[in-house]
Amino acid sequence: MIYLDNAATSFPKPEGVYAALDQFARHSLANPGRAGHKMALAAEHTLDDARHRLNRFFNGRSPDRWVFTLNGTDALNMAFKGVLNDGDHVVTTDLEHNSVSRPLVALAEAGRITLTRVAADAGGTVSAGAIEAAMTPQTRLVAVTHASNVLGTVQPVAEMGKLVRARDALFLVDAAQTAGVIPIDVQAACTDLLAFPGHKSLLGPTGTGALYVGPRAQLRPWREGGTGGDSSTPTQPKEFPYYLEGGTPNVLGVAGLVAGLDFVEERGLDSVRRHEVELCDQLRDALAATPGFEVFGHANPTHRVGTVAFRCEAMPATDLGAILDQSFDIAVRPGLHCAPYVHKSLGSYPDGLVRVSTGPFNTAADIDRLVEALREVTGGI
Ligand SMILES: Cc1ncc(COP(=O)(O)O)c(C=O)c1O
Repeated sequence: MIYLDNAATSFPKPEGVYAALDQFARHSLANPGRAGHKMALAAEHTLDDARHRLNRFFNGRSPDRWVFTLNGTDALNMAFKGVLNDGDHVVTTDLEHNSVSRPLVALAEAGRITLTRVAADAGGTVSAGAIEAAMTPQTRLVAVTHASNVLGTVQPVAEMGKLVRARDALFLVDAAQTAGVIPIDVQAACTDLLAFPGHKSLLGPTGTGALYVGPRAQLRPWREGGTGGDSSTPTQPKEFPYYLEGGTPNVLGVAGLVAGLDFVEERGLDSVRRHEVELCDQLRDALAATPGFEVFGHANPTHRVGTVAFRCEAMPATDLGAILDQSFDIAVRPGLHCAPYVHKSLGSYPDGLVRVSTGPFNTAADIDRLVEALREVTGGI
């Protein structure tokens, strides 16, 4: 199988991740608890160590502000449902994944918040000025994806963050498509809430993710329960990160996530991104030279991560995706990619596009094979 669906989840994982999962599962898979036995303490230590690593990697204020979640969606819901109050106004964009837009639209439909969605330009970028123009005195939160999961276009979040901070609102960045490929400095980018999964470019297993909660953001816990520590209080202990982390955390997954982070740090973010974007450019060039294909997204590779979305005139995206899978053993992602608004603005709704997303283990030969397959299917030359 040639796997080109890394924007959904990365595959394969680095060898170090498989080894860490195996080692941890065999020897350390106790329920993390600060007041418990040796194995429980060792498991808790794994979580602590991971929080320190994330805090350094993303330049957070302190390790206890990194809350482990089940995935990106869990982190985003924790943020929205924890931070928003009745009557708040929220600004977001057309580029968002359903994990941002659905909870916000649900809150708006329930009459709890008002919502403004800012359009992207033709290349797939939302300007900081457009975000600022959409803000009102009631705006409590601006929630923006760092890179579109359809087009791969990177948004000017540092510029946006400064404008949002100046207007005294909170700034949430969905880093699902950038954590592990683009340097993120939450303090420099005035980011109050950073949500990301661990299973994409951070190369950890599924079931991992985190939410960074900066000191300006006051959250109610979205999930309450046991914390492995103080059991005496009738409600959730106020101490971070346990305040937001009710229930047994996925400590096995976090052990794998740390090994993924080791790989990313060793290889270097620039090198990972360059490799992934170069493979996408190889595909973009080949499709530009093949009749019957239309490629979307920013022309300049420095504005993109490793994702290409295209339309094939000869057949709907879902048919092409199925043929690539069944006849050529190539995994891509056809359809709407959980991001209907961006497809509406591109004119690709409801059929969607084919998305190819590269990872650190893809090669130029994988792209050659994909291009051959596309030409064979469509009869292009
Ligand atoms: C931009 C974006 N945000 C959020 C998510 C949700 O992440 P998860 O699938 O880990 O819940 C995704 C997943 O594809 C994504 O691409």
